[in-house]
Amino acid sequence: MPVSRERFSIKVYDPGDAQATIDIFLRAIREIASRDYNPAQIAAWAKIDDTQVWGQYRASRPTWLAMDGPTPIGFTDLKADGCLDMMFVDPDYQGRGVASLLLATVEQAARKQGLSRIFTEASLTARPFFERNGFLVVTTQQVQKRGQTFINFLMEKSLR
Ligand SMILES: CC(C)(COP(=O)(O)OP(=O)(O)OC[C@H]1O[C@@H](n2cnc3c(N)ncnc32)[C@H](O)[C@@H]1OP(=O)(O)O)[C@@H](O)C(=O)NCCC(=O)NCCS
Repeated sequence: MPVSRERFSIKVYDPGDAQATIDIFLRAIREIASRDYNPAQIAAWAKIDDTQVWGQYRASRPTWLAMDGPTPIGFTDLKADGCLDMMFVDPDYQGRGVASLLLATVEQAARKQGLSRIFTEASLTARPFFERNGFLVVTTQQVQKRGQTFINFLMEKSLR
């Protein structure tokens, strides 16, 4: 049974969704995360080197899309070790519970797999969202991406 809240629903990723996830990823960074990172950082982050490789990554772990009817409006995933790698919501749907719905889906899957915790590397932009949802900051870190240095936060949530 698909999980749903309000009128949004959850759909399991399939290969035909690659471009939709790319569009959401790029817009969420350029229009939302750009509040917290400078233009050079945004340009380095909002880049897809190879769409095929992107699709392979999305298909290599459980990935879910949030849907408004037939329209993809956000996506997330869960790697086997408990890493939530991606959490991006369409700029037109911010603050409407889309990421919360996606996170609930991840947590449900993680519990089913017997994981005791999930963790993520949260952007400055996403940290308040994850804190609001029970994640704690483990450490602040600086990571390199295409020659730019980014501050982000290793955060985790216990599922016990
Ligand atoms: C972070 C992000 C995924 C949140 O998505 P969203 O759908 O707007 O989040 P929700 O509406 O489900 O928010 C859930 C809760 O977190 C809070 N929250 C979300 N973003 C917040 C922010 N920037 N500051 C404070 N609180 C925030 C909401 O107020 C809400 O609290 P409530 O339940 O009391 O109303 C979205 O802003 C995004 O795509 N950001 C840009 C991309 C990015 O940085 N992704 C993360 C990469 S690690």
